[in-house]
Amino acid sequence: MDYEKIGTFILNLRKEKNMTQQELADKLHVTDKAVSKWETGRGIPDIQTLKDLGKEFCVTEKELLNGERDFKKKETDPNHHSIVLDVHNLSKSFGKRKILSNVNLKIYEGDIVGLIGPNGAGKTTLIKTILSLYKADTGTIKICNYLIDNELENALSKVGSIVENPDLYQNISGWKNLQIVCLTNHIKDTSIINSVVKLVGLEDRIKDNVKSYSLGMKQRLGLAAALIRKPKILILDEPTNGLDPYGIKDLRKILKYLSEKENMSILISSHILAEVENICDRIIIIKEGKLLSNFGIEEIKNKHISLEDEFLRRTKNVEENLYNENN
Ligand SMILES: Nc1ncnc2c1ncn2[C@@H]1O[C@H](COP(=O)(O)OP(=O)(O)OP(=O)(O)O)[C@@H](O)[C@H]1O
Ligand SMILES: [Mg+2]
Repeated sequence: MDYEKIGTFILNLRKEKNMTQQELADKLHVTDKAVSKWETGRGIPDIQTLKDLGKEFCVTEKELLNGERDFKKKETDPNHHSIVLDVHNLSKSFGKRKILSNVNLKIYEGDIVGLIGPNGAGKTTLIKTILSLYKADTGTIKICNYLIDNELENALSKVGSIVENPDLYQNISGWKNLQIVCLTNHIKDTSIINSVVKLVGLEDRIKDNVKSYSLGMKQRLGLAAALIRKPKILILDEPTNGLDPYGIKDLRKILKYLSEKENMSILISSHILAEVENICDRIIIIKEGKLLSNFGIEEIKNKHISLEDEFLRRTKNVEENLYNENN
């Protein structure tokens, strides 16, 4: 076992999360000296601490002991470890009306998943329930293995999201908004602000008051705010609303970059099916609160049909196509 390699891996994972040695030590209930010892290749964590470390950084124990991420694991080990979001038998009602019925879905590390369905199908309700803005009637939701019922804070620390309009202070600059996000998330190294602003292409206007922004600029700032915490999963409800064709193209580039280079998972709900087809690896169709289909994008590419045609075909007759991932 290469202690030095394991140590460097732990060090890099900690830096990715902008954590100090002390912060990591506190989370794992060990001393900062122990963290320092691992990171300098003078020891490795015990089994329980390895498990906790794995949960904290969304990596497997095997990856920790190998000292590197296993990017091939999605193909080789689809059932374990790399699941970032796991929704199991989720149901939700408003009063007597059932809005979501036994929804099951899993999202893997680095996947870009499109959530599509007719108006009123339950997409926003599903997203809000995942984010714990609504309480589920039954079922479980795990984010990076944290059950939201028991470990809400840890679970939500792995998520960045924009649902409806981004949450922004209008009377201060975009820059100040991002500083506040850093402050409220205890992020001390604010150099991350520069990189997210550059990523979303808002450098020229970031010092202006948010109230002077166009809708698309606000969306970009909202995305920057969602990315500051370096989430493992980004959840976006109709993010192309208000974006011009340049904005849509930029968003596509950003999401691909985050998925490929940062291994971030993305769940994106949208009615612009051509765009969903362009960006996503996997498609989930929901209708009347039930998961109708869950398929890889290559399935329609191989058949040379558009997502729009497939969507219309699959949503036409719910009974025929009813699909439930009972696992
Ligand atoms: N807070 C609420 N109280 C009562 N009913 C609600 C509430 N939010 C949503 N609903 C109902 O739940 C159903 C699903 O709504 P939801 O907003 O999840 O649909 P959607 O798939 O996001 O639709 P759209 O494509 O129009 O955004 C609708 O019938 C809606 O009226
Ligand atoms: Mg909606």
